[in-house]
Amino acid sequence: MQDDFCSIAVLVSGGGSNLQSILDHIQQGHINANIACVISSNPNAYSLVRAKQANIPTHVIEHTRYASREAFDQELVRTLEVYNIKLIVLAGFMRVLSNTFITAYPGRILNIHPSLLPKFPGLHTHQRVLEANETEHGCSVHFVTANLDQGPVVIQAKVPVKTTDNTERLAARVLEKEHIIYPLAVKWFSQNKLICLDNAIYFDNEPLSTHIILTTKHEIELQ
Ligand code: GRF
Repeated sequence: MQDDFCSIAVLVSGGGSNLQSILDHIQQGHINANIACVISSNPNAYSLVRAKQANIPTHVIEHTRYASREAFDQELVRTLEVYNIKLIVLAGFMRVLSNTFITAYPGRILNIHPSLLPKFPGLHTHQRVLEANETEHGCSVHFVTANLDQGPVVIQAKVPVKTTDNTERLAARVLEKEHIIYPLAVKWFSQNKLICLDNAIYFDNEPLSTHIILTTKHEIELQ
């Protein structure tokens, strides 16, 4: 394996549709990378079934078995040590990571969040967007830093909020976009087009002053 080949660990807690989307793009040859392992904080996550179907090694690390966040994160780091991981992808991973983990992978942890950050960090974003009568919603891929949902944003995709929306319909429309922007960001990272140094993003070797907004031009890059 080449030194700069992008070996990925995906951390999950739930259904894993984002994991599946990234995996599909790798299998179709659109992303030159490999998912070396999937780690779930939830033993019943459907993500684990998806990983096993793709012959990806899986690990379950349940936070309830650890006395502290630090101890849980140390176990994550220990588990990952045997893989030569270049990128950590958080895909519906429902644990907040401590500095122990974040400093082990500086500029190498991506997360997807279902809102147009910095709006609506935290949970229940779709419900909160509807309650706030927003006309626009979406999702963001960002690098993970010590501050929850506040790391530098790489790319966002927007969807209109319709008067007929409920949380399920809105969430489904946002999820469709997640399945495009996450593989795209992973692809850029694997190509070394996307780099994060000292919390600043560089894209094609230029500082990225404002995050990218998904357009059809980008969607073509994924094919
Ligand atoms: C997605 O909405 C993601 O934005 C959020 O959790 C959900 C995970 O979905 N962080 P899935 O497990 O990838 O289907």
